[in-house]
Amino acid sequence: MIKKIISVETSCDDTSVAIVDNEGFVIEQMTASQDLEHTPYGGIVPEIASRNHSIALLPLIESLLKKAGLTLKDIDGFAVTNRPGLIGSLIVGLMTIKAMAESLKKPFIGVNHLEGHLLAPFLKDNSYAPPMGFDYPYIALAVSGGHSSLYWVKGFSDYTIIGTTKDDAAGEAFDKFAKMIDLGYPGGVQVDRLAQMGNPQKYSFPRSLILDKNLMMSFSGLKSAAHRLIQTLDPQILEKEKSDLCASFQEAIVDVLIHKLTYAAEIYQTKKIVITGGVSANSRLRTKTEELKAKGYSVVIPPLRYCTDNAAMIGYTGILYLNKGINSEINIGPSSQSTENDFKISLYQEGET
Ligand code: KG4
Ligand code: ZN
Repeated sequence: MIKKIISVETSCDDTSVAIVDNEGFVIEQMTASQDLEHTPYGGIVPEIASRNHSIALLPLIESLLKKAGLTLKDIDGFAVTNRPGLIGSLIVGLMTIKAMAESLKKPFIGVNHLEGHLLAPFLKDNSYAPPMGFDYPYIALAVSGGHSSLYWVKGFSDYTIIGTTKDDAAGEAFDKFAKMIDLGYPGGVQVDRLAQMGNPQKYSFPRSLILDKNLMMSFSGLKSAAHRLIQTLDPQILEKEKSDLCASFQEAIVDVLIHKLTYAAEIYQTKKIVITGGVSANSRLRTKTEELKAKGYSVVIPPLRYCTDNAAMIGYTGILYLNKGINSEINIGPSSQSTENDFKISLYQEGET
């Protein structure tokens, strides 16, 4: 039985390491953000991301063990994100963990990053625990800079993608919009901040596919509409209108997410909903989920440290596999995509389940 695991997440631009136990208790987690390194470029530069992972990772693991008051002797195994993500970033985490596992003769497992997001609501620590009795099955909305999908999470290792975006992810749309109006990177949080002072009804932005009887989403039309509108505005007016623009743009995204989420719950006849990924930090989305709770939904949004990219979710997923006797071979590679068996795909259309 594996009791404690070290996990590593380097699929994108955050270097995150954690020690998690077999109950999902996060003994320690440390994350080094690279936001400042990428800000001058207005987005993530893959080469910079991988270089920074290789500088940060080993010292971070050392600090993690020290902070937890543990040594490598206390660790029974390792987990590392090996898919999907930026190849150069994934390689750094994967090679480091392979070397540690091999030299210590302990098992390791390569984990799908998205599966980690789906299981994040089970994590706990000294200041967070999931609601009493929280369990499968549930609908999960994973919304971040790289993904925007709806899943039917039937049980551990039994996940079906039931809806997804046809183009941009919701976080990507926030980031691109922020760039259009010079709010800097990462943009979602800036749009959220300005939106709080704005009028969400001032501009009418498209809510693509919202009335379609399926669980597909699309945010590129919204982005183009915003771009066209901004080009018609005089720079001085644009400056004054930024908060109304942010509020209206944000309202369009949140409307689509909430609409598709509740439609998914209706189709799968459940009131259990999980929201995860960086966009779950959005204050308007959170207000709307409070409204869902008032309507009888049980909504779980893990705390931000387990919603954004983090190693704890990878550790918990990894330990569940290792304790089922499933581990990775030393020749496993990184992959920019999920593998075929990670998820079932059953994109819902009216009349089908
Ligand atoms: O999960 P995450 O940390 O990283 C991945 O992309 O995997 O998500 C980052 C995304 C970015 O697109 C960022 O703009 C968005 O989450 N985000 C937000 C907010 N905070 C972060 N979007 C809207 N409102 C926010 N408050
Ligand atoms: Zn993610």
